[in-house]
Amino acid sequence: MTESTTDVTRAPSYLPDRARIFVAGHRGLVGSAIARRLAGEGHEVITRSRAELDLRDAARTAAFLADTRPDAVVLAAAKVGGIMANSTYPVQFLEENLQIQLSVVAGAHAAGVGRLLFLGSSCIYPRLALQPITEDALLTGPLEPTNEAYALAKIAGIVQVRSYRKQYGAAYISAMPTNLYGPGDNFDLETSHVLPALIRRFHEAREEGREELTLWGSGTPRREFLHVDDLAAACAVLLRSYDGDEPVNIGCGEDLSIRELAEMIAEVTRYRGRLDWDTSKPDGTPRKLLDVSRLTGLGWKPAVPLRDGIASTYAWWRTQG
Ligand SMILES: NC(=O)c1ccc[n+]([C@@H]2O[C@H](COP(=O)([O-])OP(=O)(O)OC[C@H]3O[C@@H](n4cnc5c(N)ncnc54)[C@H](OP(=O)(O)O)[C@@H]3O)[C@@H](O)[C@H]2O)c1
Repeated sequence: MTESTTDVTRAPSYLPDRARIFVAGHRGLVGSAIARRLAGEGHEVITRSRAELDLRDAARTAAFLADTRPDAVVLAAAKVGGIMANSTYPVQFLEENLQIQLSVVAGAHAAGVGRLLFLGSSCIYPRLALQPITEDALLTGPLEPTNEAYALAKIAGIVQVRSYRKQYGAAYISAMPTNLYGPGDNFDLETSHVLPALIRRFHEAREEGREELTLWGSGTPRREFLHVDDLAAACAVLLRSYDGDEPVNIGCGEDLSIRELAEMIAEVTRYRGRLDWDTSKPDGTPRKLLDVSRLTGLGWKPAVPLRDGIASTYAWWRTQG
């Protein structure tokens, strides 16, 4: 587990020291990191696999929460995917996420759960939001059309959490993580995000002794990447120390170009061939960087340098067979 660089010992705590916490989605990239972190901090982490409890089933989810009565719920279960999956299955991305959120947030409140953290995403901010993106940019402009259904479901979750705060005084909060990576990431080239996809492509190019590798776009768009262990540490801080209406951005506060990222990954994977860019392919938004001053104001800062995080994620993937 990453050492936290956070000092919030004197901050008010909205979470008991040895809390019982249901982490929904504990097998995923985000949920597994949060479960590791919370268990490492001495909390009792409660989990259910999808086979044991389908969170779209509101009645069963409410019964489970009423039986277990956790002190807190972290909602890291969601239908998640890349551009291709989002544009092919918008119905599932909209409906499954709405169903999960309705079940879990309403079920938690009905069961008297006092604390809940909902995970949104930086990709639900308006497509042309001013950079770096502050939390108040939410709902100020048109969304990225390729993931509109997913984004609207997630925005509904944020409004749902805010409504429980307003109407019932519930200490429920939302976070907006940037692009994440780390152990547990998806390396399937059909559905993966850019960072694990590049790791895999460079690794395979080296193994095959290829002398050149062509990547999509110009390499100039700038993106931000955060290791999931840092995200998990930030979520633990928010559970303890934050109780506000606005969501809180979670990012490292620094971006780099896709070309710089590719060069870093080439080094880590020891790919020595040439790198070409197919500029006939689309680049996407020129820049996506979160303003993380609200979070750093709570005393958190990231601990995993990008190069180290890439190296350990690459090492983890190579153990997966
Ligand atoms: N990955 C990122 O870069 C990123 C960035 C920003 C925000 N986030 C947010 O973080 C959250 C988790 O993302 P992730 O990357 O960890 O996704 P993930 O790896 O796909 O994990 C999602 C988890 O949700 C579970 N799940 C999905 N539908 C379920 C259902 N009906 N019932 C029970 N469990 C269900 C999955 O269970 P199975 O294992 O059984 O499929 C899986 O464990 C999402 O809300 C996402 O928006 C992620």
